[in-house]
Amino acid sequence: MIYLKTPEDMKQMQAACDLVSRTMGEVARWIEPGVTTLKLDTIAREFIHDNGGRPACLGYGGFPATLCIEVNETVVHGFPSNYSLREGDIIGIDTVVELNGFNGDMCYTYAVGEIDPEIMKLLVTTKESLYKGIEAAQPGKRIGDIANAVQTYCERRGYSVVREMCGHGIGRKMHEDPEVPNYGRRGIGPVIKNGMCFCIEPMINMGSRNIVIERDGWTCRTKDRKPSAHFEHTLGVWDDETHIMTTFDYIQEALGERFI
Ligand code: MF3
Ligand code: CO
Repeated sequence: MIYLKTPEDMKQMQAACDLVSRTMGEVARWIEPGVTTLKLDTIAREFIHDNGGRPACLGYGGFPATLCIEVNETVVHGFPSNYSLREGDIIGIDTVVELNGFNGDMCYTYAVGEIDPEIMKLLVTTKESLYKGIEAAQPGKRIGDIANAVQTYCERRGYSVVREMCGHGIGRKMHEDPEVPNYGRRGIGPVIKNGMCFCIEPMINMGSRNIVIERDGWTCRTKDRKPSAHFEHTLGVWDDETHIMTTFDYIQEALGERFI
């Protein structure tokens, strides 16, 4: 069941989305060779707490951390660790903040130092596909229109779309209906309308779309160990318009020239 939000709910959603966006900006300052992913997790957790929020991933279904860490071939749901980032790595950071009972969810994939131009192309295409999905997410359209826009954009450029994981509705819970897949047919699925909040989060692979879940039960990586990229925004629909509620502006501020 899709829970529609009132204008008051939307204000709370916006506050949660602002906090998760600012959290990502704080973390972005630290992305460089040598930093451990555990350090990034601590920065995020403390920032969220200092600002009255709750790290919603921590403890969710037993997930042990504030941030999902996605280095190179990790697709989603990796754990922070004492691994130090290396020049040439990519790292997706995905997190959810709960504030006053509502959740904001976003993800950004960063380059660590100089990276292979082919991998940079994967990052740029994945990010662009998120915005293609957002363009398709207008009121009156259907969830399948988003899915098809993302899939078409990525596959035309030679990349593959992870199918096992999807975007999702969001609100008082991190995951609500509807599911928002990154592949599928236009014109199918729920109609997008005022009061809806949902996340679009393409997970795009350089090689095959196949994934493997590691023995920890969470870490999802590409089967062929080629890189995977992931970007996510939380969206809200009101006044017959779709609004991007999270922002990459703080990340841009932190990265300067390095922002893609
Ligand atoms: N954006 C991720 C998702 O929607 C956040 C996962 S948090 C976790 O799946 F706790 F489930 F890891
Ligand atoms: Co999400």
